[in-house]
Amino acid sequence: MTDAAAAAPLRQPFLFLHLPFLLLVLAAVSGAAASACDPLPCGSSNDDEREVLLVARSSFNDPLNFLSSWNSATHFCGWRGVTCDNSSHVSGVALTAMNLSGTLPSTLFFLPFVEIIDLSVNSLSGEMGFLSLPPSLKYLNMSNNNFSGAMNFGLGGSSSSLEVLDLSNNYFSGEIPERLQVFTNLTMLDLGGNVLGGRIPASISNLENLRFLTLASNQLVGELPLEIGLMTALQWMYIGYNNLSGSIPPEIGNMTALNHLDLVYNNLTGNIPSTLGNLRKLRYLFLYMNHLSGPIPLSIYNLTALISLDLSDNNLSGEIPEDVSKLKELEILQLFSNQFTGKIPVAVTSLPRLRVLQLWMNAISGGIPVGLGLGSNLTVLDLSSNMLDGMIPEHLCSSGQLSKLILFSNSLQGGIPGSVASCRSLQRIRLEDNLLSGELPSQFTQLPLVYYLDLSGNEFGGRIDNRRWEMPTLRMLKLAKNQFNGSLPDSFGSVQIETLDLSENRFSGSVPVGIGRFSATAAFSSINSSAVAGNHGLCGGNPRSGLPACKSPRWPLSVTALSAVLLLLFLSLFLLLLLWWRRKELQTIKKVDGGNVWEVKIFDERASRLPVVEGFLSSVKDGSVLSYGRGPAAVRLAVSEASAVPPTFGWREVATIGRFRHPNVASLVAACRSERRWVFLHEFLQGKRLGGRDGALRELDWGQRWRVAIGVARVLRRLHHKCRMAGFHGSISAEHILLVNKEEAAKPRLLLRLHVPGTSSPPRSGLPAEAGEGNELTEKSDVYSFGVLLIQLLTGRPPTDPELGGTGEVVVWAQRSYAECHVEKWVDPSMTGLPAERKVEIIGAMGLAVRCTAADAAARPGMGEVVRDLVAVREGPSVGCCELLGYLLPETYP
Ligand SMILES: *[C@@H]1O[C@H](CO)[C@@H](O)[C@H](O)[C@H]1NC(C)=O
Ligand SMILES: *[C@@H]1O[C@H](CO)[C@@H](O)[C@H](O)[C@H]1NC(C)=O
Ligand SMILES: *[C@@H]1O[C@H](CO)[C@@H](O)[C@H](O)[C@H]1NC(C)=O
Ligand SMILES: *[C@@H]1O[C@H](CO)[C@@H](O)[C@H](O)[C@H]1NC(C)=O
Ligand SMILES: *[C@@H]1O[C@H](CO)[C@@H](O)[C@H](O)[C@H]1NC(C)=O
Ligand SMILES: *[C@@H]1O[C@H](CO)[C@@H](O)[C@H](O)[C@H]1NC(C)=O
Ligand SMILES: *[C@@H]1O[C@H](CO)[C@@H](O)[C@H](O)[C@H]1NC(C)=O
Ligand SMILES: *[C@@H]1O[C@H](CO)[C@@H](O)[C@H](O)[C@H]1NC(C)=O
Ligand SMILES: *[C@@H]1O[C@H](CO)[C@@H](O)[C@H](O)[C@H]1NC(C)=O
Repeated sequence: MTDAAAAAPLRQPFLFLHLPFLLLVLAAVSGAAASACDPLPCGSSNDDEREVLLVARSSFNDPLNFLSSWNSATHFCGWRGVTCDNSSHVSGVALTAMNLSGTLPSTLFFLPFVEIIDLSVNSLSGEMGFLSLPPSLKYLNMSNNNFSGAMNFGLGGSSSSLEVLDLSNNYFSGEIPERLQVFTNLTMLDLGGNVLGGRIPASISNLENLRFLTLASNQLVGELPLEIGLMTALQWMYIGYNNLSGSIPPEIGNMTALNHLDLVYNNLTGNIPSTLGNLRKLRYLFLYMNHLSGPIPLSIYNLTALISLDLSDNNLSGEIPEDVSKLKELEILQLFSNQFTGKIPVAVTSLPRLRVLQLWMNAISGGIPVGLGLGSNLTVLDLSSNMLDGMIPEHLCSSGQLSKLILFSNSLQGGIPGSVASCRSLQRIRLEDNLLSGELPSQFTQLPLVYYLDLSGNEFGGRIDNRRWEMPTLRMLKLAKNQFNGSLPDSFGSVQIETLDLSENRFSGSVPVGIGRFSATAAFSSINSSAVAGNHGLCGGNPRSGLPACKSPRWPLSVTALSAVLLLLFLSLFLLLLLWWRRKELQTIKKVDGGNVWEVKIFDERASRLPVVEGFLSSVKDGSVLSYGRGPAAVRLAVSEASAVPPTFGWREVATIGRFRHPNVASLVAACRSERRWVFLHEFLQGKRLGGRDGALRELDWGQRWRVAIGVARVLRRLHHKCRMAGFHGSISAEHILLVNKEEAAKPRLLLRLHVPGTSSPPRSGLPAEAGEGNELTEKSDVYSFGVLLIQLLTGRPPTDPELGGTGEVVVWAQRSYAECHVEKWVDPSMTGLPAERKVEIIGAMGLAVRCTAADAAARPGMGEVVRDLVAVREGPSVGCCELLGYLLPETYP
């Protein structure tokens, strides 16, 4: 008999009885004798090693027959994945990425001379039992499998050669084992991407040769142990995406070999310790998404090797000092979503390698330094939602590489400088809601790569029809609320325009044929009344433009009849509107409170007693909950506040959202405005957030998750199709979805918020690449965010997850996963034991999510189609994923 797989099961009982004894003895002997012996086996017969390998073979399912060479006909040194030393002992077993399933072949660890065991990237599962690692083992890689249970292993001798231990991306749970400390020769330890809990044991510092440590993406809690400072050889430390709390211990400043330090997405509080300034080799410092407060210690600017500094999404305050000039290697500086004040230091102009500067959503004032962009490689500049004034600097594009120029919601003045206007690398330009003026420079309308251009809410003027428009990639153009006059240009040089807003200008004449032609194409769907409204001199266009027809001498009789009908229609519409308006908008009240005059607009009966609450408006606090009234009449409202609102933002925008009602959306019940401050009152909801660190997602089964998805999809469809709400959008991420009712776990409610510049909690759209720009206005970008949410519902992973490798973008990974069709690999492990037809639904939903997140917005479905397909996923068992499906679902394995 030559078929090893068939032979092995017969031998198994014998081997399991005898191997542990046999091989433990061998291990003890080999430790002493291995180096001294000649090529003949030292106490181990090669036959024993063959048996060990054959037993291991029998615990694998090998659907692709990678292990067909593992049979008695050939010597095991010739078997695929097996390597031998000069004495024909097994020194390595490397079975990476062979689509193996089954359980851990623990017998491999009885091989007395083995140095390398690599089982990574398979579908092996089950628990470790107790794994005794042979003293000879130097490299163990079990990453990217489906192993679970505790990390239960120890040392099978008196000393260990183990240098590399990679158990990442499995489902290991329990705590990080104290026993780890005996592996003192470890240089690399990766336990990331599991479900480990508990604290980081102080004993980990005994691993004093460790150079690389990853514990990221687990559920670790407690503080970082002070002893971590003893790990003076450590160069890479990744502990992000856990639940660590407390402050960063100053002892971390003793880890002077550190090159990368990553503590992102934890719950760290307190100040950044000034001892970090001792880490002179540090090149990457990532502390974003914590609750750190206080100023950036000056010592940080002694870290002259820094390439990337990202402290965004914290509560940091104070000014950014000129000392930043010492960071000569700095390429990326991200400090957005904090409370920084003061000016942008002139020193940023002396950083020769600066590529990305993102300071948005702070309270930074003053001008943008004049020399910014000179002699550097500036590619992305996002200073939006601050209090900047002065002019747009001349040299921003001197690198010739500037692709994103995002300065919206400031008080910038003057025109667009010529050199910026002719910056041909630009792709995305957002200058809306400033005080910019002048005419558009002529080259500015001929930028080949721009796909997004928003200049609305400024004081630009002049004609735009007397220049060449050649913007072939333009998809979104907003010139609303300016002083442009004259006719509309014949075309904007792009056939890809999806969103166009020219409203509230002084355009006159007839809508050109060119624009009418656009509107005939399917892609250009959004020229409607709102796109050209508020231009009193405009006429014509296609019927959907809603404009009066241009004067025409023909049809005099029917014109009179038509106008009578129109008048009648208009009157009844007006009446209807009035009725509706009165119902929705109960009162507008002026009120003096705390010495300020406030206008209060109420959209809902529940807030009707609000004005009675004395002193409320002067003392209101962002994030607080307002309660008044007693018993069944008690009212609770959530307060959010905005300061630094640009003057262009007004009641019109607020009223639109105030009137929007949907059972899945927390409604805006009232808004209040004083001279430069807005206060918004939303319906207060109690429930569990779906996403985030302690989100409810894990507790939901697939059916409930589907109901969340369809609920959100229906809101978005209504927002875009029925209400045509442009200018704000639902905060479509799991963090902004509340599950209101435990019993009906899937009654999702979206916290729909106006994205007012200056509001403290900006919606995070789930668009990692565009995170700097808060609100996206098109339907297709909401479809994208929805796709990201759907992926999150299916996989349980956040939008960016470093454990996924590469850029960590879950979208990229989901696209790969979908192609694999292998549900167990990517579906959220907390949705266990699904029957085959549910898996088919999940694959269908993933297919939809992949389409929604297509890089090319034109390839994404519309919101209506999304709802349809999502319903179809649950209704019809259309497989359509891949032919291999039946084969890949584990229960159908032969
Ligand atoms: C194994 O053999 C190669 C040549 O065949 C030799 O270079 C090497 O030093 C040997 N290694 C050991 C550990 O004996
Ligand atoms: C084997 O696994 C790889 C990676 O896990 C996957 O890409 C491939 O589609 C699988 N092939 C089969 C036939 O299962
Ligand atoms: C473990 O294996 C994976 C996949 O083969 C590989 O990417 C990773 O680098 C390995 N880990 C170490 C520490 O070598
Ligand atoms: C541990 O590493 C040291 C230095 O690299 C080496 O001398 C020693 O032999 C190693 N210990 C074992 C058990 O391999
Ligand atoms: C480590 O850092 C702490 C505080 O920064 C300091 O008091 C201590 O002396 C340092 N320990 C060593 C061994 O350098
Ligand atoms: C974060 O820490 C604060 C105080 O240290 C605590 O009140 C809060 O519950 C923690 N949040 C999470 C999500 O762990
Ligand atoms: C920066 O380093 C210098 C020595 O290189 C030291 O004298 C100075 O105190 C440090 N600055 C801060 C703020 O720690
Ligand atoms: C700018 O980038 C280019 C390549 O991207 C690089 O070769 C060059 O050194 C950079 N310049 C500076 C000043 O960093
Ligand atoms: C992977 O592990 C999870 C959690 O332990 C389990 O629910 C799932 O069935 C496993 N999948 C496979 C293919 O073994």
